[in-house]
Amino acid sequence: MKKSVIFYYSGTGNTWYVANKLKHFLNQNTGPCEICSIENLSQLTVKAKINNADIIGFGYPIYASDIPEPMKEFMKNTNLPKDKEILVFCTQHFFSGDGTHIATEFLNIPESNIKWAKHFNMPNNLCFSKKHKYTNDREVINKILKKANIEIKKFSICISQNRIFRQDFSTKYKILGNFQRPLYRKFVRFFRGKFSIDDSKCSCCGICASICPVQNIVYKNSKYVVKKNCALCMRCYNFCPNGAILFDKKPREIKYGIPYQGPTKSYIKNLIDTKRIEKIKKEQRDILQ
Ligand SMILES: Cc1cc2nc3c(=O)[nH]c(=O)nc-3n(C[C@H](O)[C@H](O)[C@H](O)COP(=O)(O)O)c2cc1C
Ligand code: SF4
Ligand code: SF4
Repeated sequence: MKKSVIFYYSGTGNTWYVANKLKHFLNQNTGPCEICSIENLSQLTVKAKINNADIIGFGYPIYASDIPEPMKEFMKNTNLPKDKEILVFCTQHFFSGDGTHIATEFLNIPESNIKWAKHFNMPNNLCFSKKHKYTNDREVINKILKKANIEIKKFSICISQNRIFRQDFSTKYKILGNFQRPLYRKFVRFFRGKFSIDDSKCSCCGICASICPVQNIVYKNSKYVVKKNCALCMRCYNFCPNGAILFDKKPREIKYGIPYQGPTKSYIKNLIDTKRIEKIKKEQRDILQ
């Protein structure tokens, strides 16, 4: 029996979904598994959880063969004792080059230290062309989830049987990743400042500010404002109930469908923190008084 802990970061719920399923299968076949969102985790808690587990896991969505900034920071600050077994998984719409292998750069470990690595295809949360529209049809989503569940189960069996499995660690995928990643890294700063709010549509519900993983949306002078430190998680853009979030000053394109609402309804429901919305508004009122 082996204990595992999986640290995950999820923008719109896909990685959260995979982490939950993996936990379910590992609990059945490998031993107690705990999953932890990296948002608001203290260093001390992380250290304690790592010390207490045999297998340490990391899960994240892939952004053009790269890792989202909050997960990069988390990995850089995580010390992995040599005796731990490591698993990495990423979620993607359809392609991520060497998306799990790139974790070695931020965990600062040789690739041989990663025992299990896998990419999971999940619904698209970013619409970047007519060809890759948002996935909103429940039937289509359920089909993707069904396939993913099978893959997650197979992956968990490799772990429980202690069989090494490293998807896309080959030179071909490293070359593809190394081709895509530099472009992303070059343009990411530009994209991070591209979100804003259409005040005429905004109802000041505070949802976006409460769910932003990097506190990039603030309540200032009685309105919500997006700063320039976005992690590109797509939460505010996809989940704003009024479609008031703009990208490059443009509203969401109706022709591409309703932005992805997550793999299940419970993801966003659990994420919205009404207490945090009140706190954000109160802080601003106190500053203005
Ligand atoms: C900035 C950004 C870049 C992305 N790049 C890719 C990509 O290169 N390949 C791909 O297959 N999916 C890409 N996606 C889609 C997500 O990786 C995919 O939908 C993921 O499962 C989202 O996970 P989450 O819901 O946990 O945030 C991208 C999404 C975003 C927001
Ligand atoms: S979620 Fe939308 S409507 Fe609500 S505060 Fe944010 S931008 Fe405004
Ligand atoms: S500003 Fe929006 S897209 Fe950017 S990190 Fe915050 S919630 Fe995510």
